[in-house]
Amino acid sequence: MAESKVALVTGAGRGIGRDIAQRLAREGYACGLIARTKSQLDETADLIRKAGGKAVVTPTDVARREQVVAAVETVERELGPISVLINNAGAYLRKRFTEISEEDFDFQLKVNTYGPFFCTQAVVGKMAERGGGTIIFVLGSESRSGPSQYAAYNASKVAQHAIAESVAYEFMHLGVHSAALDVDGAVDSPRVREAAPDEDPSHFVPPSAICDEIVHLINQHKSAWTFKVDMRSYYQWRPRVAVKKKE
Ligand SMILES: NC(=O)c1ccc[n+]([C@@H]2O[C@H](COP(=O)([O-])OP(=O)(O)OC[C@H]3O[C@@H](n4cnc5c(N)ncnc54)[C@H](OP(=O)(O)O)[C@@H]3O)[C@@H](O)[C@H]2O)c1
Repeated sequence: MAESKVALVTGAGRGIGRDIAQRLAREGYACGLIARTKSQLDETADLIRKAGGKAVVTPTDVARREQVVAAVETVERELGPISVLINNAGAYLRKRFTEISEEDFDFQLKVNTYGPFFCTQAVVGKMAERGGGTIIFVLGSESRSGPSQYAAYNASKVAQHAIAESVAYEFMHLGVHSAALDVDGAVDSPRVREAAPDEDPSHFVPPSAICDEIVHLINQHKSAWTFKVDMRSYYQWRPRVAVKKKE
């Protein structure tokens, strides 16, 4: 039986997630779209449908297990069995360590760790029963080493990386490919350009390159799977910041 081409993309309302959803739709995947803001999901769905693709909007807070389970049910009822999950939704906090509240810390963990945990748990068992599927965790450089003022975010992303790895080892022999896509650098977007107006835009990671890598991971032969991708701009971001500070 041919594998169902249905993808669930979290954080699909804007930014990298919107690009990923559009790209997967162009690759022939019907897309379930998750984020909290319905109007942004509707915009993504419109872009996909105008290009001839299929999309279902499921406004969801990934930090709420019951909402995730309901979204997965809706997407599978309307589009078919989910064969690809992209854990992309993320919350981002930059704060001095001594100012991070317990609520801040909880929130980062809820969105960046519990979110991918709930989403993965909602689909991986059924993927394994069907003998195939791909789950990709979109991480940042934080999952390797933590820059200052990002302790809560870093902790949540390191934990997400651990989930990606454990899922890989637990489900690989059942045909499910879990991979960590570590994007080590600022990704090109209006927001990033505004925050770094003096930076040459060619130094930012292009979202299209992230989409290319995702498509590559999904289509890999199951006896040649990649489990961890380090994607880095040729213009090393953080070392360069350190060099600039010394100048
Ligand atoms: N941008 C970068 O430079 C960069 C670099 C490396 C890695 N990354 C990673 O790439 C991913 C996407 O980043 P981005 O820059 O595209 O972010 P973004 O523009 O802020 O978009 C984040 C998306 O996630 C959704 N989201 C946030 N909290 C959510 C929740 N609780 N439940 C469901 N959806 C939620 C947002 O929608 P709502 O707010 O409507 O829910 C939005 O659609 C993140 O995991 C980030 O860590 C980004």
